[in-house]
Amino acid sequence: MSGPLKTAVLISGRGSNMASLVKASSASGFPARISLVLANNPNAGGLVFAKDNNIETCVINHRDFEERELFDRAMHTKLENHGIELICLAGFMRLLTPWFVDTWKNRLINIHPSLLPAFKGLHTQKRALDAGCRFVGCTVHFVRPEMDEGPIIAQATIPVLDLDDEDSLTARLLGVEHKLYVHALQLVAEKKWKIEGNRVLYSNIGLEVDGAQKPVILPLI
Ligand code: GRF
Repeated sequence: MSGPLKTAVLISGRGSNMASLVKASSASGFPARISLVLANNPNAGGLVFAKDNNIETCVINHRDFEERELFDRAMHTKLENHGIELICLAGFMRLLTPWFVDTWKNRLINIHPSLLPAFKGLHTQKRALDAGCRFVGCTVHFVRPEMDEGPIIAQATIPVLDLDDEDSLTARLLGVEHKLYVHALQLVAEKKWKIEGNRVLYSNIGLEVDGAQKPVILPLI
């Protein structure tokens, strides 16, 4: 029997999603284990949490590389040497090269604070408020070379309240992100999925729950 999926989390800053993944995956029986936290920024706050929790950390500073792909190749070497099987991007603020994304195709996932394909990029809650959205949400998806694109693994939503502003929405959604990322990591690590075109399918492979597919219904709010 194979053990939990050896997973790396790539961060650039605070790392609260990474912390959530570390905590959840330390439970016995969880199908993935965070065994490396890699940051491109030596001052990433999340590195402290990882060290305090005895997770191996590594800094590969993108500023040390003249070309994007050389930076990506350095990360790849570290990840390979560490036996990493899955990468979770969690607030990793560097665009990855097509070479890296293709090399890790379907073994590289990301969390984005919007209901993709709406609001790719930055300032998602401000743009959703300006557009008058009644709901905002977050998405975990497999990464493709185009920014914030790729088959969607799981999504969760929260309602926009009259008194909400960008800060309150961002804060409320962050708590949901933490749960969604754990849920998505579990789904991916259980390997009971397949990708058809842009869709991640779970049906007919053991995830039918009371006629509803488990990944669609998320008791988050
Ligand atoms: C999160 O909102 C995530 O969705 C986005 O960047 C933020 C990272 O926050 N990609 P943290 O570093 O995980 O606290």
